[in-house]
Order: sequence, then C-alpha cells, then structure tokens
Amino acid sequence: MKSQSSTNNDFIVIKAKSDGVTVIGLTRGTDTKFHHTEKLDKGEVMIAQFTEHTSAIKIRGKAVIQTAHGEMDTEV
Ligand code: TRP
Repeated sequence: MKSQSSTNNDFIVIKAKSDGVTVIGLTRGTDTKFHHTEKLDKGEVMIAQFTEHTSAIKIRGKAVIQTAHGEMDTEV
C-alpha cells in the first residue's frame, strides 16, 4: 500500500493496567473530534496506528503506552 504523508506504519501499543481504560481516536483535518472510543479492561492490549482518519489518540485511565518514541505510563 502506498504510504501517505499524514500517516506512517508505526503501531502504538496500549496495555490497560486497570479496568475501564479508554482509548479515544480523534479525527484528522480541520475538525478534531472523537470518532472512536474503545474501552479496555485490566490486562487488555490494543495495538493501533495513526491513519488518514486518526491524527491523535487520547488515553484515559491507568495504562502503559509503547511508541517509537519510547514507553510511558499515564501515572493515574
Ligand atoms: N477507523 C479508524 C481509522 O482507520 C480506526 C482506528 C485506527 C482507531 N487507529 C485508531 C481508533 C486509534 C481509535 C484509536 O482511523
């Protein structure tokens, strides 16, 4: 697949450290709105990419996040 300038092939990994962690995808473009909300329970893992539709990802709750920039923790 042709790669687009707005995206890359990197994945981000989110591992929930408690129940009810929320992963929210925000739209790309002039409007920055929630378009997808995913709930994770403790121990569940979500692997996601930034796409032509998703420019930002917001994470609520206690989780560990791994990206190409390193690993971080939401410190809730
Ligand atoms: N349909 C969304 C998209 O292609 C799915 C998605 C990709 C998503 N990455 C995400 C949803 C990150 C939430 C968070 O963009």
